[in-house]
Amino acid sequence: MPKINVGVLASGRGSNLQAILDASATRRLDARVVVVISDKQEAQALERARQHNILAVYLSPKDYFSRESYDQAIVKMLQEYAVDLVVLAGYMRIISPALIGPFRNCVINIHPSLLPAFPGLHAQRQALDHGVKVSGATVHFVDEQVDHGPIIVQATVPVLDTDTEETLSARILEQEHRIYPLAIQWFAEGRLKIIGRRVMIEGGVSTSGGGG
Ligand code: GRF
Repeated sequence: MPKINVGVLASGRGSNLQAILDASATRRLDARVVVVISDKQEAQALERARQHNILAVYLSPKDYFSRESYDQAIVKMLQEYAVDLVVLAGYMRIISPALIGPFRNCVINIHPSLLPAFPGLHAQRQALDHGVKVSGATVHFVDEQVDHGPIIVQATVPVLDTDTEETLSARILEQEHRIYPLAIQWFAEGRLKIIGRRVMIEGGVSTSGGGG
């Protein structure tokens, strides 16, 4: 039996959602995605959810008068489906305290850089522009600041001289698909302990995840 119910918020392609669904289907992940919510009607993530017979909900931000009221509607839905963990997977809206409050330490995000380097949009392009030699992906708890909360796991990839934004993004994405289900599994097992900014993984694991 799955240990936790997961609600996914996604705005686009949904490849991370797919990695989570695949991990769940092959029992690498003791979690069940019960609802996928999107702010974009055309999000491929919604289609992926439907293909797995998972409730796929489009909520138009235009129907709500504020960011808070939109997030309150999301919270209501997440609570209705007894969601334990909220997973942001390519969700392009900044979430407000109205969502973070009721799900304190139960919202996680994935970002395509080694945070705290290159928060915000176009992280891979930022990494190339800066000339770093390694980059990667970060899974972290979400707090009130963008791309800021306590870090659960990171994976590194090399940045090659020949890289474009596309090739670097693809190399990072491969790591995203590996570490996001891993982080969710640790959460499901109740092994994540937040101490200040640090996240301890009870039972101990290697979190370096270096490239492979
Ligand atoms: C990923 O690169 C993720 O790190 C970032 O948005 C992208 C979403 O991709 N937050 P997908 O929709 O999961 O394919």
